[in-house]
Amino acid sequence: MKHYSVAIDGPSGAGKSTLARAVAGKFGFLYVDTGAIYRTVGLSALRAGVDPKDAGAVTALLPETRVELSHADDGLQHMYLNGEDVTEQIRTPEVSMAASAVAAYASVRAFLMDAQRDLAKTHNVVMDGRDIGTVVLPDADVKIFLTASAQERAWRRTLELSKRGTPKPYEEVLAELEARDRDDANRTEAPLRQAADAVRLDNTQLTFQETVDAMSEIIQGRIDV
Ligand code: DC
Repeated sequence: MKHYSVAIDGPSGAGKSTLARAVAGKFGFLYVDTGAIYRTVGLSALRAGVDPKDAGAVTALLPETRVELSHADDGLQHMYLNGEDVTEQIRTPEVSMAASAVAAYASVRAFLMDAQRDLAKTHNVVMDGRDIGTVVLPDADVKIFLTASAQERAWRRTLELSKRGTPKPYEEVLAELEARDRDDANRTEAPLRQAADAVRLDNTQLTFQETVDAMSEIIQGRIDV
């Protein structure tokens, strides 16, 4: 049976997760947040007292690292590290930096590749990440490169952190975001870049709903849903 796949890539803070989840819900597709998977590996390193920047030590940790995910009825993706639900714990700025570091290793990317591809083989998916349209699902039916200006993305993240009760100054958020953008785009393994056949959508000036509508239109123009 044919399963449809929608690949959503772009820099952090463009709203990929919330938007991809909303769009998946609208079309009845499974939403897969691949960033959460890298975050879980990042958390695993931190918990083991391993420096995420130490490629060898992180790689050595992989055979004893069990990463699983499940989807709640409301579409929320839960992440499990060695059986423990770490859905909340992977959302700290510290884990963001660790995830960015471990995501640069070929060993980590290979370790997580099959799980991502298997999900797309067995479900209609909206999958968000950095290399979904370029590496993980190069034959995806729809590819969207979702972006916004660094200032707008930092502003949104600042609001989010403050809502979560862990406020951080805008300037600091912007600096961290720009550093992470640079790392994600300049790494050798699966760097963040737009696939040649992806549609670029810049939502700096768009509301959430306007972005959902624009994404839906792109999807409907390419697949029969
Ligand atoms: O989207 P996010 O912020 O949750 O992603 C966390 C980190 O993982 C980010 O630095 C980029 C990396 N990542 C990746 O390299 N490839 C993916 N498919 C998804 C995320």
